Amino acid sequence: MGSIKFESHSWIWDGVYYYPHLCGGLMLTAALLGLSTSYFAGIGVPSLPYFWPHLGIFQKKKYEKKPIRVYMDGCFDLMHYGHANALRQAKALGDILVVGVVSDEEIIANKGPPVLSMEERLLLVSGLKWVDEVIANAPYAITEEFMGNLFSNHKIDYIVHGDDPCLLPDGTDAYALAKKAGRYKQIKRTEGVSSTDIVGRILSSMRDTKVGDGCNSPSLSEQPHDTTKESQPNGTQISHFLPTSQRIVQFSNGKGPAPNACVVYIDGAFDLFHAGHVEILKNARQLGDFLLVGIHSDQTVSKQRGTQFPLMHLHERSLSVLACRYVDEVIMGAPWEVTKDMVCKHVIVSEMDSA
Ligand code: CTP
Repeated sequence: MGSIKFESHSWIWDGVYYYPHLCGGLMLTAALLGLSTSYFAGIGVPSLPYFWPHLGIFQKKKYEKKPIRVYMDGCFDLMHYGHANALRQAKALGDILVVGVVSDEEIIANKGPPVLSMEERLLLVSGLKWVDEVIANAPYAITEEFMGNLFSNHKIDYIVHGDDPCLLPDGTDAYALAKKAGRYKQIKRTEGVSSTDIVGRILSSMRDTKVGDGCNSPSLSEQPHDTTKESQPNGTQISHFLPTSQRIVQFSNGKGPAPNACVVYIDGAFDLFHAGHVEILKNARQLGDFLLVGIHSDQTVSKQRGTQFPLMHLHERSLSVLACRYVDEVIMGAPWEVTKDMVCKHVIVSEMDSA
């Protein structure tokens, strides 16, 4: 089980530490990774002195290596799988990922007011499986003073950001100092999703509801909402996300349940993944050893909640759930009713019951 350190850049969060637990797994991935690692294990060359005990030469199997600590900051408003993918890539650049969550005040000054509060954004970020430590109320720009604090107090080796320009209101680069210090690394921004795009989808869905109410159009309300389409007859925002099996593998942990494990099943829409989802998944995981999450299909969600939903399509919702540290496995397009063959030894919890 991993742990996360929760720190503050300001007095508000001083001394607050969270230690949520880590777990993981996707059976398909387990099969793939198992195959590749056992294949390459056959051609590995162990260090020579380890093989010469008769000469009295012994050494540790591994050298103690100083862990590389990387820092990534952001607003993480309406947190989506693009943010999760950025943090996944940042973590891969080192051993320990420290995430700075920019303060409400700094976001207001640089981008306009955030939708989610500092507390909600912190919960969402610390619920991600790649995040090791969190710094609350981080500044928007990497100033000389904050960079010194990162290097000396947080022992940061590299500062990471996506490959999109991040400019301050005066037009200067927010990461200029980190770049000058030679301690900057870049990851690839995930195409097809942004907080602005999600706000657009929310506004469109609200407009659709009003249009539906006003015109009383049965043909519109009978159509399931398909977020994967290029354009919607009702004007709903479109998704440009292209789901690939590689992305799902990257987000998965690659472990199935151990023999005799108590597998907990929870199902739901998990649309617009939020702090409440993190809480319920954490609680569900504590009921057993392995958490299996059933994610309802777009058609099921539309049928149950209205044609303007879901706002995020099945693959987007699946990635957000898979990125959560409490989740071991997902069923993409789970049935609304839990069938008898799914039950077998499982504890069933419903997202609706517990919300
Ligand atoms: N990021 C990314 N892919 C996206 C959106 C964000 O890789 N689709 C990265 C950014 O490059 C940044 C980090 O996630 O390194 C945090 O981004 P954030 O500060 O929250 O804001 P934006 O970059 O403006 O993204 P968004 O509009 O989606 O909030």
